[in-house]
Amino acid sequence: MPLQEFPYAQGQLHCEGIPLTAIAEAVDTPVYVYSATAIRSNLRGYARSLATVPHEIRYSVKANSSLAVLALLGAEGSGFDIVSGGELFRVLRAGGDPAKVVFSGVGKTRDELRYALENEIGAFHCESSQELDVLRAVASSMNASPAVALRVNPDIDAKTHPYIATGLREHKFGIAVDEAESLYRDAGSWAPLRFTSLSCHIGSQIFDMQVFQEVLGQMLELATKLNRSAGRICTIDLGGGLAVGYRAEESSASIKTYGRMLSEAFRGTGFRLGLEPGRSIVGQAGVLLTRVLYRKPAGRKTFLVVDGAMNDLLRPALYAAHHEILPVRQDGGPQVACDIVGPVCESGDFLATNRALPPCDRGDLLAVATAGAYGFVQASNYNSRPRAAEVLVEGDTFRIVRVRETREDLVRGETV
Ligand code: LLP
Repeated sequence: MPLQEFPYAQGQLHCEGIPLTAIAEAVDTPVYVYSATAIRSNLRGYARSLATVPHEIRYSVKANSSLAVLALLGAEGSGFDIVSGGELFRVLRAGGDPAKVVFSGVGKTRDELRYALENEIGAFHCESSQELDVLRAVASSMNASPAVALRVNPDIDAKTHPYIATGLREHKFGIAVDEAESLYRDAGSWAPLRFTSLSCHIGSQIFDMQVFQEVLGQMLELATKLNRSAGRICTIDLGGGLAVGYRAEESSASIKTYGRMLSEAFRGTGFRLGLEPGRSIVGQAGVLLTRVLYRKPAGRKTFLVVDGAMNDLLRPALYAAHHEILPVRQDGGPQVACDIVGPVCESGDFLATNRALPPCDRGDLLAVATAGAYGFVQASNYNSRPRAAEVLVEGDTFRIVRVRETREDLVRGETV
């Protein structure tokens, strides 16, 4: 916040040049609306601030895996960080370059490894010696010699929500530093796997630059040490994690500051830098547009029951995440404290609680801000609710990039 690509103009909230009311009329609600310009400019922000060092940006597909978003980023030259065969399928379908794909995750199946090898992805980020065993077996059977990074667990506290912190020893992610060192020492015995990189990712929604500095220092030191004995590591991938501002008064962590810090640290080291940003590329670039179904006064508070729910945007229910609620029509009336809740039959089904909003009533539109990352991708059909549509805006035009699910979609593949 503030959201540059979602301005108020003529008393109405817009996405770029399009009033959100026009999208609601054309597509109905709930609907995710993304700004192509915002997505592109965030990616370019990374590229610009890293221009002086060899680097590769691998957009983290899990943040928003819409084909249109992937295609847009691929066309800008982005690589991709995937965590499943399904994400690889999406990247390929969107025209992404498999050579720029890295495959992370603690539980890759044999079938997923084979699929990724068939498509000659850039590198496998491996998280255990058993995974290396399986990858070696599958690769050997296919006469492939894939590039591998060991994902290291640096045992660093990301100071973020516990569900999205991944860099402490107690977490399931990565390989402990001492084990990684011994694996690299025996790198030759892992042929046909080629140990070419190191990777890590200590968590998401991180504001503290000192945390990144610490990770960075540790990874550079480890890679340098390993290269002194074995001499194979060319790339250090630092994962994603840069935070965005969810509250009106909170700015996003600066891509520019982060990029400059990384450039300074990498310059002259000979290492290539890899990054896997997700949230910082798409988070601020999307809103969930929803309509008030009912206004329901209840004692001292008022419930606004809207047509978007926890199945559409899980973050408030799952992480107690805060998303700003923006009335689409600007109205100067006296503010009222509201809980914005969905139709799902759980008290945990809220998009926001205790928010001061101008008087809203049936039919009014609200935008849930900063919903571009981990929004639609975490949607489900809970309560047999069809998943929302998605719209991509660019300047004065918009396109439906995913149609709303139908009731038929809800039972596809099922039999009585
Ligand atoms: N690389 C790896 C290996 C990851 O696991 C993740 C995110 C990223 C990159 C991208 O991190 P980002 O730049 O987006 O922080 N659903 C949660 C977030 C889960 C993040 C999981 N890993 C949420 O809604 O906050």
